[in-house]
Amino acid sequence: MSFSVIFVSLIKAQSNASIKDKIEYIKQFTGFPLGVSVDGALLLHNKVYQNIVANEFNSITAENQMKMYMIHPEKDRYDFAMGDSIVAFAKLHNMRIHGHTLVWFDGMPKWLKNYQGSNKDLERLIKSHIQTVVGHYKGKVYSWDVVNEYLAHNNDSVRKFIIQEKLGNDYMAKCFQWAHEADPNAILIYNEYGMEWSEKKLQGIISIANDFKKRNIPISGLGVQFHLKIFNSNDTIVRVLKELSKTGLKIHISELDMMVNIGKNRANVYTDSLKKVQQEKYVFVFNAYCKYVPDAQKFGITFWNVSDKDTWLRPTYKMIEWPLLFDENYERKQVYQSVLISLKNKTSQ
Ligand code: XIL
Repeated sequence: MSFSVIFVSLIKAQSNASIKDKIEYIKQFTGFPLGVSVDGALLLHNKVYQNIVANEFNSITAENQMKMYMIHPEKDRYDFAMGDSIVAFAKLHNMRIHGHTLVWFDGMPKWLKNYQGSNKDLERLIKSHIQTVVGHYKGKVYSWDVVNEYLAHNNDSVRKFIIQEKLGNDYMAKCFQWAHEADPNAILIYNEYGMEWSEKKLQGIISIANDFKKRNIPISGLGVQFHLKIFNSNDTIVRVLKELSKTGLKIHISELDMMVNIGKNRANVYTDSLKKVQQEKYVFVFNAYCKYVPDAQKFGITFWNVSDKDTWLRPTYKMIEWPLLFDENYERKQVYQSVLISLKNKTSQ
């Protein structure tokens, strides 16, 4: 190779490196962990997806792979393969791992849905499930959503399903204690949705948190899913964050996304005006979290999925949606830039 070829390739490598150095990322300006939920198969096989996850985020959550139906598919069999590969990816890229979720009414395997045994036996099985999973990931998974969606859809009553029926309403407190026994260092969180549209639910969550604190149940945080819609009121978003923060617990915006395609007259087009409203609301959510959640309680903000291509909303609601910061080609959207600029302005103030 001639000197000039070596020289040119050196310059090229250098300029690539400096271009990379110059790229700015939202995660540099948050001051708290920025997370994303990932699909295990995409993370294994899609290079573009891997790069975005590794470059743009510093906390990771398995979208489904640690849910009971995946990790404990049969009564006497666990399957940690996919969960382990997500953990390995996170370790390799120095990311925090947030575990989702130990108990969830909607993420149950068949053997549990059809459970016919005694109450005591089920209690033993749930304890053993929690301690096996938390034990397996001890020292690797930093935090757990111990129970997901404990309350009913739109009020403060306890959601009814087999575990609640057989163990009683206090099953959540027991789950926290069992998880704590298995890994005393893990941050344990109660994750919930709907407080942005149900005041009853918000109050219910707060009473549970205060009751747990009084009883020394080892709860460290509250997860507020925030599957938002562009018409959610800013006042309510602020109120939720302020009220939850008063518990003194860590607050995790745990499943952030924002539907734009709503209402009877679904547009099916991502119009400029929808984009604008979405940009403003996303900026608002980040600002509100910075402002109203005390620093020591900022557990982080986690997006639910990486891009509009892999958002859970499309298959779940069988409709087109554009709820995230990356588009179908995994490119940053304008809303990404809006959030970035707003956070940068804040840090330079
Ligand atoms: C969703 C996943 O994204 C989907 O892939 C799966 O089919 C169903 O569950 N609230 C939660 C998440 O706590 O676990 C859900 O994840 C989305 C709603």
